[in-house]
Amino acid sequence: MSAPELQLRFDASRFTPMTVQVNGLALAVRAYEGLPTVTRPVEPAYQVLNLYIPEAYFQGGAVGRYTAQTAPIFLPNAVGGYLPARPGTPAGRSGPPPGAASAPGGPPTGGPPGAGPGGNGPSTIAQALAHGYVVASPGVRGRTLRATDGTWTGKAPAALVDLKAAVRWLHFNAGRLPGGRADRIVSNGTSAGGALSALLGASGGSMARQAELQAAVQAELQALGAAPAPDPIFAVSAYCPITHLAHADEAYEWQFQGVHDYRRIDITMLDHAVQRREVPGTLSPAQQALSAELAAAFPAHVNGLGLKDEAGRPLTLAADGSGPLRDAVVAQVLASAQRALATGQSLAGRTWLTVEGGRVTGLDWEAYRRALGRLKVTPAFDDVALGSGENQLFGDARTDKRHFTAWALARSTVPGATAADAATVDRMDAVVQLLRSDAGSVPAPHWRIRHGTQDKDTALAVPVLLAAAARHRGLSVDLALSWDRPHSGDYDLPELFDWIDRTVAAAR
Ligand code: DHB
Repeated sequence: MSAPELQLRFDASRFTPMTVQVNGLALAVRAYEGLPTVTRPVEPAYQVLNLYIPEAYFQGGAVGRYTAQTAPIFLPNAVGGYLPARPGTPAGRSGPPPGAASAPGGPPTGGPPGAGPGGNGPSTIAQALAHGYVVASPGVRGRTLRATDGTWTGKAPAALVDLKAAVRWLHFNAGRLPGGRADRIVSNGTSAGGALSALLGASGGSMARQAELQAAVQAELQALGAAPAPDPIFAVSAYCPITHLAHADEAYEWQFQGVHDYRRIDITMLDHAVQRREVPGTLSPAQQALSAELAAAFPAHVNGLGLKDEAGRPLTLAADGSGPLRDAVVAQVLASAQRALATGQSLAGRTWLTVEGGRVTGLDWEAYRRALGRLKVTPAFDDVALGSGENQLFGDARTDKRHFTAWALARSTVPGATAADAATVDRMDAVVQLLRSDAGSVPAPHWRIRHGTQDKDTALAVPVLLAAAARHRGLSVDLALSWDRPHSGDYDLPELFDWIDRTVAAAR
């Protein structure tokens, strides 16, 4: 082993004992924090991994249904808003408190989505440990990071590179891990973190093909000194993934065109875990014109993807925005409402639903999207004034903000504005990566995608297209819309863990 590789070798003897409190249970854990995942980091505070292993696994014991030999490795990223994220800890933030759903059509109630530190309940990491998982929590660079020499260090695809470096570290050290299966890595994330979780699953590579694969990501991993190991993962959990960014503007206007009033958030509040302040306003006539243009472009884009629904019918759209993809979105909302009804929740006030004899039989799409309301102004993602978080994501070492669609570049109001190259944009798009089946990547075989019915950070078509792309690739997909959830994640951890347990058990 070369000297740099020796630096990445896991040393199980260097741990901090920790007691994790979860629902009255005190779980002893060995904490390995701040493990470097690359030998030449550009942001040493972020390019590290926190690894937590239940003490029982060192004593031949079990936690829940797992032992050292059988425990999956849960890999939650803490990314929100494509901002930098330190590796999470058991004391860190948790999902929203149970029942923290939004009022019909209104802003979320019951605390900030994703309840930050001080939010009630044990953290996702603590709950995962108590369930018997080994937890590996990676740090991730983000769009606002800047070196002392002024260069930007966290622009796309840095976040994906860092997640891949963490996965490579786990595979490289698989034989040295005192607990946890590197062939059962389950990635988890919300929003931008959900998109990155999906991307990790869409672009997992074997060593053999990596030279041709994802050339720039590969080159950056090599330059940083990532572990010489492949980066496939077993399963993806993604909450409200903000992906398919180059077409998310069209999708957003497909859903909201004609809804001119908005409650806008600042880009510093994109992070799903941050308390948001919404500023009301109305689209200008110029924005309304852009909205119509974008909405009109979405059907052609969708029809070109060649995706199908679960029954094998083409997921297309007619020029007016109606058609099978919209029907698939509506069917998901109906199914979500039906599950809510079946568990005793009231659907009172949801005038856009038809409920007959205990069954949810119809949804008025027009009324639903108006009740939901617009959160973002047009264009929602590639802002013509370069004002979005995504514009900042697609900067480069020398440029803070760039466009990432030819459409917005052509309409840019910023003198001298430039655009990211198409390869970088594609590299950050989980739908595109899944559809590149010729790329020789090894996608995660198991996918769980959840998106709230009250989420208006991106169009509901996005998770539906992501699921269809994974299915198209032959992967198994569990997609559902979560009733009344606003933009948030980790709100149904018992169900997520149950899905992981069943998926792992079936693969044994
Ligand atoms: C997030 C939210 C957004 O609306 C967005 O455009 C990007 C990221 C987030 O919560 O991570």
